[in-house]
Amino acid sequence: MNDVQKVQYKERYLRAKRNGEKFFPESLYRDMLVMFAIFLLLVGLSIFIGVAAEPKADPSDTTYIPRPEWYFLFLFEMLKFFPGSLEWVGTTIIPGAAVIALLLLPFYDKNPARHWKKRKFAIGFMSVVVVAMVFLTIQAAVTTPPQKNASAVAATLPAQITAGQDTYSVQCAECHGPDGGGGVIKGVKGLEGFKMKAINGQDEMYTRTDNTLYNIVEYGQPDLGMPPFGKAFGGELSRSDIDNLVTYMRYSWDNRVQMPKEAAQANAIPVLGPKDIPSYSVNIAPIVKRYCVSCHRPGKENNNYLMGGYNDVMNSGDHKPNVVAGDLNSNLIRMIHGEKITAGGAMPPTKSLSPDLIAIFERWVKAGAPEKPAK
Ligand code: HEC
Ligand code: HEC
Repeated sequence: MNDVQKVQYKERYLRAKRNGEKFFPESLYRDMLVMFAIFLLLVGLSIFIGVAAEPKADPSDTTYIPRPEWYFLFLFEMLKFFPGSLEWVGTTIIPGAAVIALLLLPFYDKNPARHWKKRKFAIGFMSVVVVAMVFLTIQAAVTTPPQKNASAVAATLPAQITAGQDTYSVQCAECHGPDGGGGVIKGVKGLEGFKMKAINGQDEMYTRTDNTLYNIVEYGQPDLGMPPFGKAFGGELSRSDIDNLVTYMRYSWDNRVQMPKEAAQANAIPVLGPKDIPSYSVNIAPIVKRYCVSCHRPGKENNNYLMGGYNDVMNSGDHKPNVVAGDLNSNLIRMIHGEKITAGGAMPPTKSLSPDLIAIFERWVKAGAPEKPAK
């Protein structure tokens, strides 16, 4: 700036000051109004829309891909240009230099002009930066899509209880029985004949906090024969899984809390009227889920009889078919009556299936083992 320019500038400044408005209260008042409106908008969004919960943070989960919010994606993408030992350039030097350059702007750019024709370098440079940021953001969004399983979190109490019961049936029922009642263990290596105490009684529920139950499941009780289930200890359960499991145990077994009606209904095995014809999807699947899948899933001893769905139940197993429509001598029926079909073991272990559940299986096989209810 030369002297003439300086004088002109000073004049403009004084004129603006005379005609303009004061920062306090005019500007401040306007800012406060806008801030309040944004505040109301945020409150409204969180009440009426909200954000879906993600699973609890789990340091032992190696499949988790960390991904920043969209406005930081360009930084995240930039990291990919600085592998390994150069990472600090991407995380610290470049962003740090950019912030310092912006902070020092008033000291090195004293050009008072506003028209872009007089600020070609500054505007050109900043445009390149903005284009680069947009480009990196798009690239990050394409190459690292958000994790999909985030929506699978059980958000309501009934959903958590149901999820917990499913986990219980798969992971715990083989030793503790389908409802925590215990009994003599059969068919579990290392615990054959062990007399398992009940864990669903009030003495257990009153003396174990949720936290204690959580830890028992996460760490197991290896000296007593219970394996650890937390992922960090070689188990299959994430933190949310264990939380849901504990919620299920608490609401089902502790008589100081009341099971929500919805959860009770979702977990109930449908009642079969005397004339109803049972079908797999309505009547058998819930029983299989709760009483059979803990052993009849991949990786367990079960004669390769996997009970994950109708087709598997009908067509898998070393002695398939285990279900023959209409034939009460089917392997499945014999097994749940405790007959041996091989030299191996009798079924079911730990606690035999109650007579009314056995009756449902029998009526289903007799009716031709239909998959779907007749319309
Ligand atoms: C391989 C067999 C086995 C499996 C599977 C198993 N447990 Fe256990 N659990 C045991 C044994 C053995 C004990 C010790 C029982 C005793 O002390 O009499 C035990 C004890 C417990 C106790 C009581 C501990 C205490 O001190 O009060 C709880 C609660 C429990 N298990 C919950 C679970 C849950 C929930 C699962 C499913 C994630 C599970 N267990 C799966 C074998 C098992
Ligand atoms: C605690 C574990 C466990 C549970 C729970 C269990 N099973 Fe089994 N099941 C086994 C084992 C082990 C075998 C293999 C027995 C053998 O060696 O003959 C088996 C075998 C079978 C077979 C014969 C499969 C074949 O092709 O040889 C049928 C059918 C069967 N189970 C049905 C059921 C049904 C129905 C349920 C639920 C009501 C159930 N099982 C629950 C452990 C279990």
